Amino acid sequence: MSLKHSYTLLAPIYDAMVASATASIRKKSLAQLDDVHGKKILLAGVGTGLDFEHLPAGAEYHGIDLTPAMLKRARRRIQSNQSIKLSIGDVTDLPFTDEEFDVVICHLILAVVPDPEKMIIEVERVLKPGGQVLILDKFIRPGQFAPCRKLLNLFIRHIATRTNVVFEQVLAHSPKLKLVSDEPTMVGGWFRRIKLVRA
Ligand SMILES: C[S@@+](CC[C@H](N)C(=O)[O-])C[C@H]1O[C@@H](n2cnc3c(N)ncnc32)[C@H](O)[C@@H]1O
Repeated sequence: MSLKHSYTLLAPIYDAMVASATASIRKKSLAQLDDVHGKKILLAGVGTGLDFEHLPAGAEYHGIDLTPAMLKRARRRIQSNQSIKLSIGDVTDLPFTDEEFDVVICHLILAVVPDPEKMIIEVERVLKPGGQVLILDKFIRPGQFAPCRKLLNLFIRHIATRTNVVFEQVLAHSPKLKLVSDEPTMVGGWFRRIKLVRA
């Protein structure tokens, strides 16, 4: 089963499964946005739009996702005072020009796609020099044994998410992206809030 098919099935129950567990970590991640007035911001793998209520006004937001059923729910969530354009697309092959965005938000997507290295290269490409990347996801540390997560990965990587992604190995593919901060958020630090800046 492809991720597009599984997220089509998950779409009606996604908010019930994820919304309350992630509300506070989303809020904290998006509180890192500086003054957004006039900025262009990409929400990569936007899902059902659970980030929308935490987005400061004044920016032009673009959300992209592979799954129409998730986007349909996101569309309903846009508030009248928000400028959010939604489109179908692949985060590992972004339909945007080089250096188009001031910020790329990657909440629960880098450890979802089968090829996170390809995604981070695309994020680096569409980001302006000095632009920021906000990441919220689950990663294992370099050299960490994590046998349960590696085993779990075999069962759920094709239907929901990967659980064996080593962030440092992914970041090594985007030399212009520099680490600004990396903080544990939940499940004993399995989930991390990471901020990068493009040199
Ligand atoms: C775990 S959900 C996260 C959604 C949202 N970012 C959030 O924080 O709730 C993963 C989302 O990524 C989307 N997705 C999976 N692979 C993708 C790809 N290659 N390109 C774009 N979106 C993708 C799925 O359709 C799903 O909506």
